[in-house]
Amino acid sequence: MYVDSGTVEDNIVYDQHVLVKMVYSNQCLERSSCQGTAAAVKNQDEEKEEQERRAIISRQANTSEKFYEKGDVDSKADGFEYTPKPKSALKKAQAKTTSAAVKNQDEEKKKQERRAIISRQANTSEKFYEKGDVDSKADGLEYTPKPKSALKRAQAKTTAAAVKNQDEEKEKQERRAIISRQANTSEKFYEKGDLEKLKEAKKTAAAKNQDKEKEKQERRAKKIEEARRIKIWEDKTLPTAKVIKIKDSTEHRERRVKIQGWVHHLRREGKKLLFIQLRDGTGYLQCVLTNLLSSTYEAITLTTESSVILFGKVMELPPGSHHKAPGDHELIVDYWELICGAPSGGTYYILDKKSNVDLQLDNRHIVIRGTNTSKNLKAASLVTQLIREHHLDRGYMEVHPPCIVQTKTEGGSSLFELQYYGKKAYLTQSSHLYLESVIAALGDVFSIQKSFRAEKSRTRRHLSEFTHIEAEFPFITFENLLEKIEDLVVSVCDRIKNPNNPLGQLVFEINPDFRTPRRPFKRMSYTEVIQYLKDNNFKKSDGTFYKLEDDISEGTERTMINKINEPILVCRFPAAIKPFYMKKCSDDPQLTESVDLLMPGVGENLGASMRIDNYDELIKAFIEKKIEPSTYYWYSDQRKFGSCAHGGYGLGLERFLIWILNLDHICDACLYPRILDRYKP
Ligand code: 4AD
Repeated sequence: MYVDSGTVEDNIVYDQHVLVKMVYSNQCLERSSCQGTAAAVKNQDEEKEEQERRAIISRQANTSEKFYEKGDVDSKADGFEYTPKPKSALKKAQAKTTSAAVKNQDEEKKKQERRAIISRQANTSEKFYEKGDVDSKADGLEYTPKPKSALKRAQAKTTAAAVKNQDEEKEKQERRAIISRQANTSEKFYEKGDLEKLKEAKKTAAAKNQDKEKEKQERRAKKIEEARRIKIWEDKTLPTAKVIKIKDSTEHRERRVKIQGWVHHLRREGKKLLFIQLRDGTGYLQCVLTNLLSSTYEAITLTTESSVILFGKVMELPPGSHHKAPGDHELIVDYWELICGAPSGGTYYILDKKSNVDLQLDNRHIVIRGTNTSKNLKAASLVTQLIREHHLDRGYMEVHPPCIVQTKTEGGSSLFELQYYGKKAYLTQSSHLYLESVIAALGDVFSIQKSFRAEKSRTRRHLSEFTHIEAEFPFITFENLLEKIEDLVVSVCDRIKNPNNPLGQLVFEINPDFRTPRRPFKRMSYTEVIQYLKDNNFKKSDGTFYKLEDDISEGTERTMINKINEPILVCRFPAAIKPFYMKKCSDDPQLTESVDLLMPGVGENLGASMRIDNYDELIKAFIEKKIEPSTYYWYSDQRKFGSCAHGGYGLGLERFLIWILNLDHICDACLYPRILDRYKP
């Protein structure tokens, strides 16, 4: 029912309109009943036609073709609902299907050709088809067909474009190379498109360079020729030169001297001035060569590391002089001779600052000529000398035990074995067993001797061969031993600082923070260290905490000592992790009267202990450590022939130097380091 909110008049007009519609519909009904019979006959024919159409439609469905108009044959394309058409229409449709199929084949071929083109376009990133022209999505599926000529044009265009692309790519690469060169030289002369100009400029520059190089070579050849003709000789009217070392130059100022050494640095100022920094191992001296002296063939071809003899007078630099020289003086040369030249570039002929560690170690014979390395070696010499001085000052006697031995001291795993006239022998791990044997003859003794450890450790503090400073003292207690260790360290440090010691200054040059540690040193028992490690969360490599009888790793030990940052005497190690000869603590036989001195930056620097002085106890210790006592008869005899309480220490010189000089690696403290896999030069 129609409900309107409008006026009454509006409703009346509407009713009349509905009435007209009803009359029209009745007329249609009558016409349809008259036509009923004829329609039944026609339906039979149409059923046949319908079947044919279904077959066509089914073919259409398979080829996805849509050539029937909507409402013309089968609007739902399901073969059931459609508007019948006259036979002629069916035939037309059949013909249309056939031609459409042929057309489809052609188009498929074209499509494939276009796909190939499009794929080539994709590779070269070209887009010469207009959007909607061939394949707007460039997927080869949706496109607006074009006449064949358009496709051919496109194909031709593609080929031309590909050739053009190759040329452009070549040009691009050339530009890139130029730009990269520009970036390195910071030149910005190249505008895009200026390639030809640039090429020309390059050619001219190269030609110019060649000319310049040729000119230079000619000039040099001429200069050398001229230089060869210059002869210099010693003026025999001058006073006879005194042979001196550089370190003695100050006291020989203004006297004619003769100094021999190596050219450390070289500087030319113009043709008539040549500065040589001479090195002779005792110091550096600036030497000035002028006029003819700097113009001879030897002078103009002189290289660093050449060896020379120089004659002249050492003169103090004038006050206010703007240039500096070692010792504030220079040798004004009046005659000189080249002893032996060196390859151009001197040490740089073999290596430079960027050379890797292995190359540097292979060429250590050259590296040691450098200022820093030679400083370290001089400091090592000084410290060795001061250590010796300390022991001699205390009245200890120096002895020289053998290095080739039959016995082991510190455990078998780190023994270097060798053949000694067909019999097995070892390189000594420590000389202290021999030192023990000497105390009854010489009293307090010491040795500075090489020790050897075949340890497969690649750490910054392990050497296979190191300099071992060992001392042994009869009639002492464990406390006396600890005091002797402190005495050694403090006394050597004080000697370094002594102003009467000219080389001491070197140590401060290398390590400005060098200080003498204060006595007494911090003392910790091994048990306390294990507790400290736990309290401070230091763990083993397996993630667990250290426990009693564990060996503390090199890394942990160093981190701990760096944290504490002062020397520590770690005492009373378990017998289980120490060598056979250490005396057991009287209050706990599981522990030994032993001590390791740990130093910041290096860790263990010295090992010491009291020795088992009872014969039976010693034999028991041999057996416990599975050592055959018979080869140690000379060692055990000490316990039979007037035994006494005694003990001693062993200090590693190179590790001590790491601490004193604050070095990074033990190799820096060593002349020719012997480390894992390295025994050259
Ligand atoms: O602690 P160690 O092994 O003790 C001994 O050899 C005892 N016989 C010494 C003695 O009581 N007379 O070694 C002593 C020191 C270490 O503290 C360390 O400084 C050094 O010798 N040392 C090494 N230095 C460099 N490389 C190695 N592989 C070293 N092994 C030990």
